[in-house]
Amino acid sequence: MNNKYYITTPIYYVNDVPHIGHAYTTIAADVIARFKRLSGCEVMFLTGTDEHGQKVEKSAAKAGLDPQSFTDQTSASFYKLMTVMNISNDDFIRTTSSRHQESVKKFWQRLKDSGNIYLGTYDGWYSVRDEAFYDQTELTAEGKAPTGADVEWVSEPSYFFALSKWQDQLLAFYEANPDFIRPLSKRNEVINFVKSGLQDLSVSRTSFSWGIKVPNDEKHVIYVWLDALINYISALGYPEDQDGKYQKYWPADAHIVGKDILRFHAIYWPAFLMAAGLELPKSIMAHGWWTNQGQKISKSIGNVIDPLKLSDEFGVDQVRYFLMREITFGADGNYSPENLINRVNSELANKIGNLLQRTSTLVHKYIAGKVPEINSNQLEQAYNLPILIMAAQMPQSNAILMASLEINNVLNNIIILSEQANIYIDQQAPWKLVLTDINQTKLVLFVLLETLRFIAIMLQPFTPEAANIMLNQLGIPSSQRNFAYLNKNYAITSGSELLPPTAVFPRIG
Ligand code: MSP
Repeated sequence: MNNKYYITTPIYYVNDVPHIGHAYTTIAADVIARFKRLSGCEVMFLTGTDEHGQKVEKSAAKAGLDPQSFTDQTSASFYKLMTVMNISNDDFIRTTSSRHQESVKKFWQRLKDSGNIYLGTYDGWYSVRDEAFYDQTELTAEGKAPTGADVEWVSEPSYFFALSKWQDQLLAFYEANPDFIRPLSKRNEVINFVKSGLQDLSVSRTSFSWGIKVPNDEKHVIYVWLDALINYISALGYPEDQDGKYQKYWPADAHIVGKDILRFHAIYWPAFLMAAGLELPKSIMAHGWWTNQGQKISKSIGNVIDPLKLSDEFGVDQVRYFLMREITFGADGNYSPENLINRVNSELANKIGNLLQRTSTLVHKYIAGKVPEINSNQLEQAYNLPILIMAAQMPQSNAILMASLEINNVLNNIIILSEQANIYIDQQAPWKLVLTDINQTKLVLFVLLETLRFIAIMLQPFTPEAANIMLNQLGIPSSQRNFAYLNKNYAITSGSELLPPTAVFPRIG
């Protein structure tokens, strides 16, 4: 099936409340999911929470709660994030759910049966914050993990996954699939790491109990990353696949991840899947990190940004827009309230909001709030104007930009179109034209309304609520809002009524 698209976010650790970094990963995936749906794909979009492991167990103890009650609470705060930020996920997987746990046990068994898991002893470093094992050679001069996290010495019986034996096949896979790890700079990092030599991976722990028990050896809990990665298939019903989702959607088209967790997705996950004899995802898309006014975001610094508060203050669409517009996917970005306000005011308010407001006011004033009647010759004429030529080719160029993850440039295109429309309105000055040529005035207003139809349809993945209000104001039927309608055959209908103008993107401050 060709037009299916399966996209995932990482599942979020529930040791903490959601912050702007979580919101960013999720919104990026949501924008891509919505864009694909509007392009005619059948999309499955998954997110959820990662609830096992030592880090969560410790946080629960600190909160004075048993781990299950603790994770029920914190998972709910991520669920709420999805609702508030208008995330269009089709499912929300929790690793403490029985559907997930069953799936993990069966996956484990498959690795075991295929000779990829053996019992040994782990003697080495572990970082609870990263939930990762580190080699001595990876530690910093201060004896920390490369991420700056504390490490502790662990010595305990452990099952191992025979990662080393998959090294050559992984390298061959990266070679044969140049688009597997994106962007390119990150791909090279991964390849170099694999080339430097892979050691077998400890995949069970015995010194704590909050996790999925190893089948037939209940002293061990399954390593939280093996447990967590399986969410991408457990949510599809692997292995029973009673409703055919696994068959339909696996392999995933895109796993969206932050750069910090690329190793787990681009090395461990493909190796687990190869060992289990399952297909590999088509791409791992790694994004950069946000700082807060130039500083690393961390609880200890106390500069964590709450996406819910931010949305309360500035609006959900405004926050979504800012996060997608401000940085190139893959690069790091800096949050500051000034940057956000500036983007919202100079682009959403001054360019798009203003264009809608001006056009709509003129249409109400001069032609009774109805889309002007134009004949087929005038429609041709309109579509030969630079502004509509630009609009008409935009869906195609945006699809290309989106495929190369240039999400911010899709928005840039939309802004350029609205700039051009504002220039067009100034040049044509319909408020003067109406005194001498009502026919030409109608054509100008038609062109502006048609351009706004393009802008609103193309904005839907980014600012769904505001785009919906714009489309309602323009009287575009809800059945005609996907990208297939972005051409002159579905031009805005002459004679249809516009709703009274309201400000979709009010200025902040
Ligand atoms: N539980 C693991 C993922 C398991 S996926 C099988 C995990 N969770 S996390 O909650 O710590 O992080 C989730 C995502 O948030 C990661 O993609 C991470 O990169 C992202 N971010 C966390 N802080 C961030 C910023 N400051 N900026 C951007 N994204 C950041 O890792």
